[in-house]
Parts: sequence; C-alpha cells; structure tokens
Amino acid sequence: MTFDDATLARRSLEIIGDGQAGSGAFVASPTFSQYGYAWLRDGAFVAESLDLIGQLTMSGRFHDWAADVVRRGAAGIERSIVAIRDGQAPDRADFLQCRYAMDGSIVIDDWPAFQSDGPGLWLWSLAHHVRHGGALRPAYLEALDLAARYLAALWATPCSDAWEEFAGHVHTSTQAAILAGLDAAESLAGAASRLPEVAEARDSLRRLLLAPGGGSWTKWVGTSEVDASLLWIAAPYALVDVAHPRFAMTLRRIEEELESADGGVYRYLGDTYYGGGEWLLLTSALARARLRRDAPGDRQRALDGLRWMSRQAGPDGALPEQVAHHALHPERVDGWQEAWGESAQPLLWSHASWLSLRSELQHAGRLPGE
Ligand code: BGC
Repeated sequence: MTFDDATLARRSLEIIGDGQAGSGAFVASPTFSQYGYAWLRDGAFVAESLDLIGQLTMSGRFHDWAADVVRRGAAGIERSIVAIRDGQAPDRADFLQCRYAMDGSIVIDDWPAFQSDGPGLWLWSLAHHVRHGGALRPAYLEALDLAARYLAALWATPCSDAWEEFAGHVHTSTQAAILAGLDAAESLAGAASRLPEVAEARDSLRRLLLAPGGGSWTKWVGTSEVDASLLWIAAPYALVDVAHPRFAMTLRRIEEELESADGGVYRYLGDTYYGGGEWLLLTSALARARLRRDAPGDRQRALDGLRWMSRQAGPDGALPEQVAHHALHPERVDGWQEAWGESAQPLLWSHASWLSLRSELQHAGRLPGE
C-alpha cells in the first residue's frame, strides 16, 4: 500500500505516540507477541528521530524513563563493575538490560539480555537530544555517570549484539555504540567523563576500533562477514566521516553483499531469523550513509530507499520490521510464521527510521520541507 509522505509521517508519529507509555518508555511493537517491552536500543533510535522532527517533549519523556531505569539499577551497576574487574560475568539481575517492562522493571527470563550497546546508545541519543535543544536534567547527569562508568568497565566483554545473537563475541557494532556513548558522556561533561578509568577506556576503545588500515570493518574480529549495523558507525553515530577508508570499504561491501535487487537491506548473509528478510531500519541506515557520502546518484538512491520503505506499509500505514519478498533463506520463513505469526508490524523503530531519513532528505533538498 502506498501512502504520500505527509500521511505516512503523520501515521508514524501517531504510532510512536501510541506506543509511548505513561512512563515515557517506547514499546518495540504494540502487536508482536515477543516485543511488548521497551528496548534501550530501539528507544534511543526513536528518540533520535523525534529530535530530528522537533518532537522534543516526546523524546524528553523517553530520557526521563531511561535515566530512571539506569538510576534504579545503580546497585547492580556497581556489582557488575566489580564482577567484570574480577573477571566474572555480571549477574543476570545486575547488568543494564537490553529491554525492560514498560514501567522500567527488570524482566528475568531466558532472553539474551546482556547487550552493552543499549546504554551506549542511550547516552548517544541523550547528547543528540541536548544538541537539538532538549534539557539536560540533573537526573540525567546522575544516570549518565553511572552508565559511563559501567561502559568503561565492560567495553571489551563479550555480549549479545544488536540482533541479540552470538553472545560469545565482542561485536564491532556494539563497541561503536559504546564509543558513541562514552563520547556523548564527555560532550555532556558528566563528572564520570573526567574519571581516569573512563577517559582511558574511551581512548583505548577509540584506538582499537578506529585504527587506520585493516580493510573493511567486520561483524566481529576474526570473521570476514560484514553486518549492516556497521553503517551506524558513520550514520548516525558520526564516529568517522563516510570518507574514512575503512568506512568507505565497509559501505561498499554492504551495498554489494547486503542490498537486495529490490533495494531493501539484509542484516548479514547468515541471517535466518524470519528467513533473513530485508529490514526497513537498515534500508534507512544505508540511505543515510549515502546521503553523507554524496557521490553521483547517492541522493537519488537515498530517496529510492525511502520510497522502498514506504511501499512496505500495511493498509493501516504500519511499517514492519522486515519483509520476506527476497528472503536470504526462504525455506526458513514458514517455520517462523507458524511459530510467531508475521514479522512485527508496526515496529516503532521502523517508523522512526523512516522519519529520520525523510528529515535528512528534506535537509538535502530532495524532498519539500514542512
Ligand atoms: C532485533 C533487535 C531489536 C528487537 C526489538 C530484535 O529482533 O534484533 O535489534 O532491538 O528485536 O525491536
């Protein structure tokens, strides 16, 4: 179903607004059985998009919630820091979780909840919020210090990645989110950013991650595979410019290996979740990277990305997480659908990524402004 941009923008904001609880948390998807929780990662990207379109009250309410979650976890954070220093894994109930109940309480189940990109992404999105005119409340600074010390302690510890998989690896994309978070903590001048252990962690991570040479970035050190979440290193985290040789190579590989003939973007070649479909939020990330590269044809390709995303809307304007029209592993799609139904739709993060891309296309002069 095709909607014009203004209608889809209105619908996206409505879906995001309906998905924001009284606490300020954003539900990942209001309808998908497994996604009735608030992820730090999804929420951070949703907040970024709201800043970009000037909806600072909504993004501010998310930061209220996230800061509250982190402050409530203070004792667990201190225990996690000690555990990591002692070479132990932090306790399931202690570490900052990838997702929380909408009221901010911890959910103890068998979800792979140890994902250190989440707190990094929250810090990154908080700095984004403040740069766009959002208030920096004292409660945020307190939470920021806790999160920065926590990330400084565990940036090199294996955890599940942004796709909640491969818990035994140290993921490049996760480390990028952590570095973006530590940089954000510094830019917001939290007290923790002046602590030697935080500054040292940030410097070591930057040296390790952004070292020149070495070809494209890969999903983790030791694999040759790329992952489309590596796009975020430049767009939107801006840890490097798109012209950075490693990023330029990574971007080219993602275009060659992970963009479908139709223009949607896969997570990584071995992906079998829902058969490995094309993800809307990654199609947005590729388009945003192209806008920044601005080689001949890039602006048009970025606009094509937005149009591809818009075409995936359901009759009610809801955007899905992914579509299986050209699944990498089509033989796996039915099994997932029998077990869990269709892929999540609406997914708030898909709507947010559509809004962010549209806003950047407007600034690049490819779409009329409001
Ligand atoms: C994705 C995560 C996301 C979560 C909620 C998972 O399937 O891999 O990146 O945070 O869904 O949307």
